[in-house]
Amino acid sequence: MSSIPALLSSRFQAVTGIDPELRPATKAAFGHYQCNVALRLANEQGRKPRDVAAEIIEAVDVSDIAEPLEIAGPGFINIRVKMDVLATAVTDQLADPHNGIEQEESPDKVIVDYSAPNVAKPMHVGNLRSTIIGDCLVRVLRAGGNEVIPQNHIGDWGTQFGMLVEQILFEGIDATTLTLDTSVELYKRAQVHFREDEAFAEAARLRVVALQSGDPQTRTIWQALIDVSKAGFNRAYARLGVLLTDEDLAGESMYNPMLASVAEDLEQRGIAVVDQGALCVFVPGDETPLIVRKSDGGFGYAATDLAAIRYRLNDLKATRLIYVVGSPQAHHFAQVFAVAKMAGWLPDTVKAEHVGFGSVLGSDGKMFKTRDGKAVTLDTLLDAAEEVAAPDVAMAAVKYADLSNALHKDYVFDLNRMVATTGDTGPYLQYAHARVSQILRRAEADGDIVVDTTATISILAELAEQTLALLLTRFPDTVAEVVASLQPHKLCLYLFELATQLSTFYEQCPVLKSEGEVRASRLVLCRATQKTLAVGLGLLGITAPERM
Ligand code: ARG
Repeated sequence: MSSIPALLSSRFQAVTGIDPELRPATKAAFGHYQCNVALRLANEQGRKPRDVAAEIIEAVDVSDIAEPLEIAGPGFINIRVKMDVLATAVTDQLADPHNGIEQEESPDKVIVDYSAPNVAKPMHVGNLRSTIIGDCLVRVLRAGGNEVIPQNHIGDWGTQFGMLVEQILFEGIDATTLTLDTSVELYKRAQVHFREDEAFAEAARLRVVALQSGDPQTRTIWQALIDVSKAGFNRAYARLGVLLTDEDLAGESMYNPMLASVAEDLEQRGIAVVDQGALCVFVPGDETPLIVRKSDGGFGYAATDLAAIRYRLNDLKATRLIYVVGSPQAHHFAQVFAVAKMAGWLPDTVKAEHVGFGSVLGSDGKMFKTRDGKAVTLDTLLDAAEEVAAPDVAMAAVKYADLSNALHKDYVFDLNRMVATTGDTGPYLQYAHARVSQILRRAEADGDIVVDTTATISILAELAEQTLALLLTRFPDTVAEVVASLQPHKLCLYLFELATQLSTFYEQCPVLKSEGEVRASRLVLCRATQKTLAVGLGLLGITAPERM
């Protein structure tokens, strides 16, 4: 099943040879879609745009989908979809289990690396954004028929564990009785201790060696620390309603046994060289080298990510790699991808993408902090939201605020704006869904039967009905665009437009007060909008309540 805009596009493309850049018409008077490609072609060929447009209209055959094409202004081609085609498209979409979303013919096996909090550290706002955005991308990619393997690359390895384990032994605590919060406190005490007591610092360094060589007591305590943090992460995931489970955990420690061979491989091929004691890769055009192994012999963050690429391609057979990590790590990923390419571990056929994102700011425009100046944790943020709204609505507010901004932009955490049921917010979309559900409930109570599979629209007489129908048929392409661009805000923008048009439709086209064919037709439009809102919100990881 191809969407109307996709069909139109391919027919135009066959004639023009280039992307016809079909756009929704800017005004209803111009029809439904607009193609401006004649202007571009004319410019290239040194001809009159209107002549080129006339030629295109002559050659392109869309008579089964659209009314006769029209040229407007300097050479725009206006397209008006036939009403019966539009009506059928809406009902077909309604009957389709995927709500029209095109299923990939050659699905990708996609790794989405996201969330990735650190053991014995509180989940910070960056982890929160990664979790919400990653969860949305997983849902959208799956909806397009791709196989998705989430990978939660938690920070469960590194020299800080020497210090943590040593502090636990020093205090004589049973590590299994810790919680994520008390282990964070422990971390702080360990840091102070490390700084102020040279003997402790030395013991902590030896403890790192013991951890790496697999000393049983050290490993047991380390494992307890991880379990405690994992329980904390899982509580946060349950609260957020995201898809991550223990199955998706693939922390840094998992790659530890592979690091030596990564280094060896790179060194043998002459890609990595020893520079001032450290094993480095100099990427052409990059001033700072990627450090594989530090001069003290320890492997760093980058080595682990290189090992992860090898594992994800060779063992998991990935065909697309996505990393949802804050923008400050853009350079890290650019380097890791470049080195993996140099080593031949990342062929050009596999797309590796870093989906970066900006920070969350307070109303003062600075990094979001609590009133006592501490960094905001996930829990404080969610608590604040739940103080002003029911849990489902609070979650919708937080998630939508996160997803509806262009990813790279910082955004201000403004609770009052986020939870409002008017404007471009999550609760507004939930409310739109609840309202249309209520209309359908009332109709059913009146004896109307609105069944998805046999539903047909007989008339789309009013402009508000046509515009709503047209918007509904744009849903599949919107999702496809998010699959390609990995930009969830495009779906948010679409859903907001849909909810807004739904309310225009109510104002101009009474549903429950209408009768006969008009009523039946409007009820189908309501049902299709309800479904599209629910599926769309579902892709954002937001619930679609029937009542609010
Ligand atoms: N744990 C890291 C942090 O909190 C993020 C890890 C992201 N994923 C990766 N493969 N490097 O900054």
